[in-house]
Amino acid sequence: MGNRVLVTGGAGYIGSHTAVELINGGYEVIIVDNLSNSDRSSLEGIRKITGIEPTFIEADCCDREAMRRVFENYEFDSVIHFAAYKAVGESVAEPAKYYRNNLDSFLTVLELMKEFGRNNILFSSSATVYGDADTLPVTELTPRKPATSPYGNTKQMAEDILRDMVAANEGLKGIALRYFNPIGAHPSALIGELPRGVPNNLVPYITQTAAGVRECLSIFGDDYDTPDGSCLRDYIDVVDLARAHVVAIERMVEGKSRERYEIFNIGTGRPVSVFELVRGFEEANNLKLNYRVAPRRAGDVTAVWADTTLANDELGWRAERELRDTLRAAWAWEQSVRQ
Ligand code: UD1
Repeated sequence: MGNRVLVTGGAGYIGSHTAVELINGGYEVIIVDNLSNSDRSSLEGIRKITGIEPTFIEADCCDREAMRRVFENYEFDSVIHFAAYKAVGESVAEPAKYYRNNLDSFLTVLELMKEFGRNNILFSSSATVYGDADTLPVTELTPRKPATSPYGNTKQMAEDILRDMVAANEGLKGIALRYFNPIGAHPSALIGELPRGVPNNLVPYITQTAAGVRECLSIFGDDYDTPDGSCLRDYIDVVDLARAHVVAIERMVEGKSRERYEIFNIGTGRPVSVFELVRGFEEANNLKLNYRVAPRRAGDVTAVWADTTLANDELGWRAERELRDTLRAAWAWEQSVRQ
């Protein structure tokens, strides 16, 4: 049972890439997903890439009875909890929806883990927990700032819930991975991000603009206090990010954790500006993008990037993919979706 992993939200963007890396690493994967922001086609993509179809249960993690049946029917020692809403703007408009879903689903999973004696939980956290940090790059010890959105608040609160649950339950081990900006797609172009409606995030907006679905990319602000005036972020390839989950699970399964609750930044450690990213996309894919400078977007921080020393030293993990290859994969995926 040590090599079986329950992946909630496993049909989604990061979940599907993680399922692939887990299967490639010899793990058996059980996916629970309510398909609220994902598509069954990602399961087919996982099968095509790995040759193995993961077990799939369509269920909502807030549905305690459905989840109880999953725990009753499947033996697994580890859970990766991706299932959550993630649109920052929507969370501001509909906070209750975000608090109820993101916290209830996590609490349900944690309570069932306790009841069924399942030991290892990996939580998808986010660099959003740092807010507008005073010092850069941020380490795991950089103080968290008050969240700027209900979405960000659910990430902070879920981290705290995990910390407290681990403290109170001897058998439980937890890891929170704080993702920086996940981008790109599997190099096979069989799985990738499937944003519904108008994308909020930069790279899907870029690829849809290149594909002619959007007319023009707006660059939100060129008057920030940065070298070229646009914001700085740490863009991490989704396959590199997925690999971090496999090593984090291994660490818990093999009893290598230093503390029963640990936090790791997962990024490249390299700040990249919006202009650099746009230029990088144009050069990597040999095309021209239609863009214009627009006013700043409310809630954006000027700069945030990771100090990844802890993940490098403790997990033995580091980002490997070149930004150029990531941006090629993002474009290849967009084109495959449009076919
Ligand atoms: C956002 C969320 C973060 C969440 C992440 C999910 C905030 C403050 N942060 O990160 O909590 O985990 O998405 O992926 O909301 N940009 C443009 N034009 C666009 C879109 C974005 O110029 O059309 C710029 C933004 O101003 C920003 C950068 O691109 O500087 C990255 O934006 P985005 O991809 O939305 O990610 P974050 O805002 O960093």
